[in-house]
Amino acid sequence: MVVASAPGKVILFGEHGVVYKGGKAIAAAINQRSYASVERRGDGHVLIQSDLGISREPVDKAVGLANEFDSAVEASRKTGDYAPLRSLYESEPMRLGPAKMIAGRVARDEKVYDGFTIHINTRVPSGCHRGTSSSVGAAEAGGLLACLDRFDVRRVDELAYAADRMIVGSPSGIDSTVVTYGGVVTFTKGEEPKQMNIPSLHANGGLHLAVADTGVRVDTGKMVALVRRTLNERPEKGRLIGEMNRIVEEGVDVLKSYDLSRAGLLMNHNQWILRSLGVSIPRIEDACSIALRAGAYGAKLTGAGGGGSVIALAEHPERIVETWRTHGFDADVVACGAENGVRVENGLRRSMF
Ligand code: PMV
Repeated sequence: MVVASAPGKVILFGEHGVVYKGGKAIAAAINQRSYASVERRGDGHVLIQSDLGISREPVDKAVGLANEFDSAVEASRKTGDYAPLRSLYESEPMRLGPAKMIAGRVARDEKVYDGFTIHINTRVPSGCHRGTSSSVGAAEAGGLLACLDRFDVRRVDELAYAADRMIVGSPSGIDSTVVTYGGVVTFTKGEEPKQMNIPSLHANGGLHLAVADTGVRVDTGKMVALVRRTLNERPEKGRLIGEMNRIVEEGVDVLKSYDLSRAGLLMNHNQWILRSLGVSIPRIEDACSIALRAGAYGAKLTGAGGGGSVIALAEHPERIVETWRTHGFDADVVACGAENGVRVENGLRRSMF
């Protein structure tokens, strides 16, 4: 049996803008991870167990789903309509389609048809825009490939990205990249991602952020579609994407020099843009105001918005967390940017995660 794990993530600057060509963002891996144990079976079935449920099907069915998905991706490239990918996701029971599709792709590409048992467990809170689906996809892909002695981070990235495509349609790829490679990643749509080396961040065991869960769950695909519609209907808002790109560029310098108060100002500016793009909600605005009143340098939503998580940067993030909790938010401190990407967990048994 092989166990692999991959982290969740937060987007520090640039969400939504990064979906468009030339759009930039900075994301960081967080110290909350997903785990997958993988074993070969020998009876020609794929058994997948996760919080979502249990499924056991012949390998051929998983391979069939992978083939169907690949054809749908090809078709959507030509038509620009990503709805068929989403339909595949919705038609699979218990939303286990992405996990099944990854297993089917690996079985097909490696010509291994004797089956797998895959157990998945995640400590990344789901639906909070902290990269749960990419993290789970990368852990599963890492486990499957390692189980066949084919572990390869590029393939993990591809498989986790494919899983995200099934859920979101046309994601930028920033989530799958950062959970696969770990650390802090600067991402420009259409270019090779770059990993940032920030010595002060590593010296501090990561950048410690206060993170609140708004308790509101909204699909990333819906929020991406909403922004796309807004930009089509109100072309004058297009300049906001350029403004966000400049925030990201400044964010790179600010993180390198570890200037937290300037980073906080940039977060506030980024939040203002996200609000103008229509992806903030009153609960997000409340969390941001509470954090700023409690002394945070800056606060913003992270990921697609419409709900999910708010991050705040502060000298004492635990104080922001306490204040949020008194206002009824589920909140925690997470360390980001010093976490490894996908890895094989030598010596870890299933009972341990
Ligand atoms: O909601 P999340 O955590 O999957 O983040 C989405 C980030 C977006 O920029 C809104 C979409 C994308 O694909 O980059």
